[in-house]
Amino acid sequence: MTAAERDCDNRAAGDGSGPRHVAIIMDGNGRWAAGRGKPRHQGHRAGAEAARRTVEHCRRLGIPYLTLFAFSSENWRRPAGEVRMLMELFLRALERETDRLVESGVRLRFIGERERFSGTLRTRMREAEERTAGNSELGVNVAVGYGGRWDIAMAARRLAARVADGEIPAEAVDEHALARELCLADLPEPDLFIRTGGEQRISNFLVWQLAYAELYFTPALWPDFSETDLDRAVAWYGGRERRFGMTPDQVEPDPRA
Ligand code: IPE
Ligand code: IPE
Ligand code: MG
Repeated sequence: MTAAERDCDNRAAGDGSGPRHVAIIMDGNGRWAAGRGKPRHQGHRAGAEAARRTVEHCRRLGIPYLTLFAFSSENWRRPAGEVRMLMELFLRALERETDRLVESGVRLRFIGERERFSGTLRTRMREAEERTAGNSELGVNVAVGYGGRWDIAMAARRLAARVADGEIPAEAVDEHALARELCLADLPEPDLFIRTGGEQRISNFLVWQLAYAELYFTPALWPDFSETDLDRAVAWYGGRERRFGMTPDQVEPDPRA
């Protein structure tokens, strides 16, 4: 973790009640469009706008890290026309938004299997990362072509290679070693997970990293997800007691202290 990121963490830790990392499955674009008698791609377009609003609001709230699930490894199975349209939208959003993100102090990162994307998209992703690398106001990670199982498998492969090279013994492979090889290993794990669209499942998002996240599900369709909806989720999070396996007495502050 860089010094800038640590500063960012400390600031957000504040009174300790706010989430330091929010992870969102942005679901419901297709249903939003269908409900309006529009083609699915209009839903995705409205979804991109909701993502822009959410990034802006996270910045206002002083949340240090936001991870957005934009396209899963399973979404490659969708009809070719929808995939093509999503790639176009993604490319256009990158070209349109990068300048604004550079200005607003957002650091952008992409996680997922990049090799499956076109050369142009890979270049744009790299450029956006490079151009925002010096920013530390809000870290935005966009999961594209991402799967939690892929992430864990790649981490295991890297560790296996180090064992095979004799760099580390097999006994050094434990949960800490594996966690260090995963995407976003340098960030705090997500504290608050939000899924819009009403489904209550993880859909192969950050399966390892979400082990202790507080899970918030809302029926709101992603294009309708507003600043107030995010405020509501964050307020709900503030009321959770996070015990990490301990008893309430161990985690509640002693009122006499
Ligand atoms: C989420 O919305 C966006 C992506 C998965 C790319 P959906 O496209 O899954 O919308 P619904 O679930 O069909 O409504
Ligand atoms: C999850 O949504 C992936 C993203 C939002 C990017 P899906 O709509 O693909 O999830 P399932 O298939 O309904 O679980
Ligand atoms: Mg969906």
